[in-house]
Amino acid sequence: MRARAAVIPAAGLGTRFYPVTKAVPKELLPIVDVPALQIIMDEAIDAGCDHIVLVSSRAKPGLENYVTPDPAVVAKLRDLGRGAVADRLARIGTDVRVTITYQENPRGLGHAVGCAREAVGDEPFAVLLPDELRGDAGLLRLLIDSSEATGSSAIELKRVPMDEVSAYGVVSVAPGAPADGPFEITDVVEKPKKEDAPSDLIILGRYVLTPSIWDDIAALKPHPNGELQLTDALLSQTGRVPILGHLTTTERYDTGTPFGWLTAVIDIALRRGDTGPQLREWLSGRL
Ligand code: G1P
Repeated sequence: MRARAAVIPAAGLGTRFYPVTKAVPKELLPIVDVPALQIIMDEAIDAGCDHIVLVSSRAKPGLENYVTPDPAVVAKLRDLGRGAVADRLARIGTDVRVTITYQENPRGLGHAVGCAREAVGDEPFAVLLPDELRGDAGLLRLLIDSSEATGSSAIELKRVPMDEVSAYGVVSVAPGAPADGPFEITDVVEKPKKEDAPSDLIILGRYVLTPSIWDDIAALKPHPNGELQLTDALLSQTGRVPILGHLTTTERYDTGTPFGWLTAVIDIALRRGDTGPQLREWLSGRL
């Protein structure tokens, strides 16, 4: 079976972006004039998903407003000659179903994903962490294809310098895999100290999970900080269902921090026909 639902955990308060996130959900921060959330939903749709499950917070009504279809906005964009972005907006909530589910308390990524269980049901599904923007849908499509072909879960991995591993989930892999993967995951540890980390392979923000993970999520025990970690559910899954790790291939922006967001805005603005030439000229004068 092919993953068709894309879960986007978006209930976090965005404290790294205070004070703007006091009023604006971080997923709606503009990448030039398109919210990050739209770019994430476009990636899921371009990878073949037709059901977006947004795990939101009641403190962030702006997310619900954004995914509510508004034909007047779409028509206005067309009048302004912005047909491509109008098309992207028009499919949300029409061709592509959106379900909003609420995470009442922020209790970690495992808990957030678990909130999508009823909406997704007994099917494989994708998870897209909205703090990470991608240049295209290639990697997610690869994970979905891999999961469909093998019946396994498939997650995105990246090699990083050992000094960086402690900010991520870190995996061990079965020996004998080609240097560029895919890898069979044998162990996962969430945010280990550098000296305890099993490898330099970290988990990034795209996952395709088989529905057997729902029971592993339901059985999660909190870490000392109270959070239920998705990595613990992955670890329980490895005993029964293979999990394949694929090295990331796509350009990636970490928009979870102001600096990462700024680099995404500049890069994407440089690439756009309507803003690129002018920004390039302005920047070169500035630098
Ligand atoms: C989460 C996951 C972690 C993963 C990371 C990728 O951590 O828990 O395993 O490596 O996303 O960005 P967070 O960044 O939410 O602390």
